[in-house]
Formats: sequence, C-alpha cells, structure tokens
Amino acid sequence: WPAFVEDIEAILELKRRRNAVILAHNYQTPEIFHCVADIVGDSLALARKAMETEADVIVLAGVHFMAETAKLLNPDKTVLIPDLGAGCSLAESITAEDVCLMRLRFPGVPVVTYVNTSAAVKAQSDICCTSSNAREVVESLGRPRVIMLPDEYLAKNIAAQTDVEIIAWKGRCEVHERFTAEDIRELRETHPGVLVLAHPECPPEVVAEADYSGSTAAMSDYVGREKPQRVVLMTECSMSDNVAVAHPDVEFVRPCNLCPHMKRITLANIRTALDENQHEVTVAPKVMERARHAVERMLAI
Ligand code: 13P
Ligand code: SF4
Repeated sequence: WPAFVEDIEAILELKRRRNAVILAHNYQTPEIFHCVADIVGDSLALARKAMETEADVIVLAGVHFMAETAKLLNPDKTVLIPDLGAGCSLAESITAEDVCLMRLRFPGVPVVTYVNTSAAVKAQSDICCTSSNAREVVESLGRPRVIMLPDEYLAKNIAAQTDVEIIAWKGRCEVHERFTAEDIRELRETHPGVLVLAHPECPPEVVAEADYSGSTAAMSDYVGREKPQRVVLMTECSMSDNVAVAHPDVEFVRPCNLCPHMKRITLANIRTALDENQHEVTVAPKVMERARHAVERMLAI
C-alpha cells in the first residue's frame, strides 16, 4: 500500500474515536478533499456547516481564519488546525487598528469585512461577507456607501455590480493577483472554445475578460450546470483536480497558481492533529462576542 493509505485509515479511525469532523476547503488536495473530509466547500459553506455539526472536535483543513471562524461559531468545541503557519495574505494585510483608523476617516460608514481576516479585525466590523454573498451583504445594509475590507480586487469587482459606493482597502490575495487578462486571451487562442471562470479575488480586468465569476463553490456548481466541453478555473490549482473527479467528460485546462498556505495541510499533519490534539485554535475573550456577531449577522442573510 502507498504510505498515504495508512494515513487515511488512521485518520478515519481517529475521527470515530474522537467524534471529530474534518472540514476541508475546495483548495485542499484531492486525497484530503475526497478521502478524509466530512464537509467540503467554499468559505461560506464551511462556516455554515461548522455551526451545524454535533461533533466534539472540528479539524479545519484550510487556513487559520477558517479555523477561527469555526471557533467563533463553536466556542465550546475543540477546533484544530494541522499547521499553525497556514495563513493568508489577505488576513495579514490588515489589523484591528487599521479598521479603527478607517472608521475615523469615514465616520458613520459601515464596515463590511471579508471572512479572510483575523477575529480581531472581524470584531471591529459591522458584518462579514464571503466571495459568494458579498454583493447581498453590501446591499443588505441599505446605505449609499460602505467600507469593504481588506481585498481591493473583491471590493472593485463588487463595486462593478452595485450602485453602493465602495471604499476599498489595499489587501490582495497572493494567488489570484497573479492572473492577468493577457493569460485569458492566450488561453482562448491556444484552447479554442474554452469557458473561463474566475474567482472574484482576481484583478477586475481578469473578471471582465472571463465568462463567469464566482466563489469556489459557485464555480464548481457552474461547471456541473453548464457541462462545458473545455473549462479553465482561474484560481488555486487543487480546485480543478477536485472538480474534475465529478466531471470526467469535461476537459480542464490547468494553468493555475498554488496557495502555499493551503498546501501546508497534509494527510500526515491531519493525522497528527487528531492524534495529539494540535494545534488548538482559540479566540481572545475580548474579541469573541463582537467577532461572532459580525459572522452571525452575515449568516442570517
Ligand atoms: P471561497 O472558497 O469562499 O470562494 O474563497 C476562496 C479563498 O481564497 C479562500 O481562501
Ligand atoms: Fe488567502 Fe489567497 Fe490563499 Fe485564499 S488563496 S488562503 S485568499 S492567500
């Protein structure tokens, strides 16, 4: 047997023993996504499902802000992340103090914060959003102007779809900022008829050049609905690998960018996480209530 089969068997046994569930983001590698995860999805789906689970232990196969969000919604459960270094360039682009300064600069303007942020930043926000509900969240506030943090490109892409004026921050996803409109033009030439789907963390000119833009789950659903002959997903590499399993008739063209943070999670460290109860994610009591409120307000929409 290859070594990873032993890890899979051990993880399945540890999950039973500890009454644990594994929540895996769409960017996890196929052996995690298809062989050990109980729940898979985009950031919104993982937050919703984290709220519903009856397990005692949640292992977050994803990045730190996702584990923190799971903890906010399950303060009494044990939430583990297999590698504490699984961060996110967006979450690192802004601090709670930055949010306070934005509020001083734009008094009375509500703050919509992408879930890709720390709990401390969420605690300074009015409401959270994800890539799948950002427009609804912005419009739900019924205000002419909102501050949208921290992803500059997501903010600009949403601004193009709504009449609400959006004040952006300067954060970028280090994975999606690398795609260019020129990449799409070349792909269309080298792969005639290819359907191009882009994540809204991509630059606006990439989204404008694509056929469709949506969250990771929305892109996966779109492929299932439209069943294109050829498709390219302008996003993290594992997305195509995972979606392709369900669509053997679709040709996936695969130029992609790896997220080094997502790739820190492996079968081996998921096994260790369950075996040795590491690394436990906690949220400082002084930010817990307010951060949870911002997430719950989003989930209520
Ligand atoms: P979604 O899965 O919510 O689209 O988010 C993408 C992402 O970059 C998460 O890190
Ligand atoms: Fe963060 Fe981008 Fe990686 Fe998602 S893909 S975790 S937004 S760096």
